[in-house]
Amino acid sequence: MSEKHEKDPSGMRVDYDKGELRRGGLPLEPLSLFKEWFAAAAGHDGVVEPNAMTLATADAEGAPSARTVLCKGWDDALGGIEFYTNYGSRKGREISVNPRGAAVFVWHVMQRQVCLRGRVERVSRERSAAYFHSRPYGSQIGALASDQSAVLVSRDALDERAEVLRAEFPEGECEVPLPEGWGGYVLVPEVWEFWQGRRSRLHDRFAYRAGAEAGEWLLERLNP
Ligand SMILES: Cc1cc2nc3c(=O)[nH]c(=O)nc-3n(C[C@H](O)[C@H](O)[C@H](O)COP(=O)(O)O)c2cc1C
Repeated sequence: MSEKHEKDPSGMRVDYDKGELRRGGLPLEPLSLFKEWFAAAAGHDGVVEPNAMTLATADAEGAPSARTVLCKGWDDALGGIEFYTNYGSRKGREISVNPRGAAVFVWHVMQRQVCLRGRVERVSRERSAAYFHSRPYGSQIGALASDQSAVLVSRDALDERAEVLRAEFPEGECEVPLPEGWGGYVLVPEVWEFWQGRRSRLHDRFAYRAGAEAGEWLLERLNP
């Protein structure tokens, strides 16, 4: 990048040359490829929060919204990606009227992207409770204190709510209850797309589309 273009996005350019994708090297189904890419990203020193993904949802009219959430695992039986949030948040409300979503993982340093889209369903309350109680105490209190996405009158109001909850559920003395409106979802993709950057914008893209039979996937190379 030249000096002149250091802060000018129109001049920012990276030539992608870290790898390539060939059909012959790809598995028959997408989740195992995702796991392989995820493990590579998680093991790469240059990747911060490899499990961060952009999640898009839409309201009943189809108006979209997007935000970052953390992938907290996968459901092998459903073949989907798990994340946790507040069911009353904007995303939660949108999912309740329109249970579909899309997500994007991007691992810049590896010049890789995975895009997925499909249906979204809640995980069981037991699964949510198990994950909730595996979180650090402070995060549990935080989830209980936050009416996520609702207007907050002041920072102090939030801190005070957290303080009251810490007093009510002292660390190490009792369990912080799983909030009624908090838990997990699994995004079960009908389409997964794997992108590997290549030179001169001639990238490799492969899409897996769910077939008519359970467990059947159609694999297609797409134009970059
Ligand atoms: C790196 C990162 C990770 C995040 N992880 C989560 C998460 O796992 N769950 C969550 O509810 N919000 C997470 N957030 C906050 C969301 O991006 C968002 O602000 C919040 O969920 C409210 O979104 P909504 O109003 O669109 O529902 C994360 C934000 C960042 C930047």
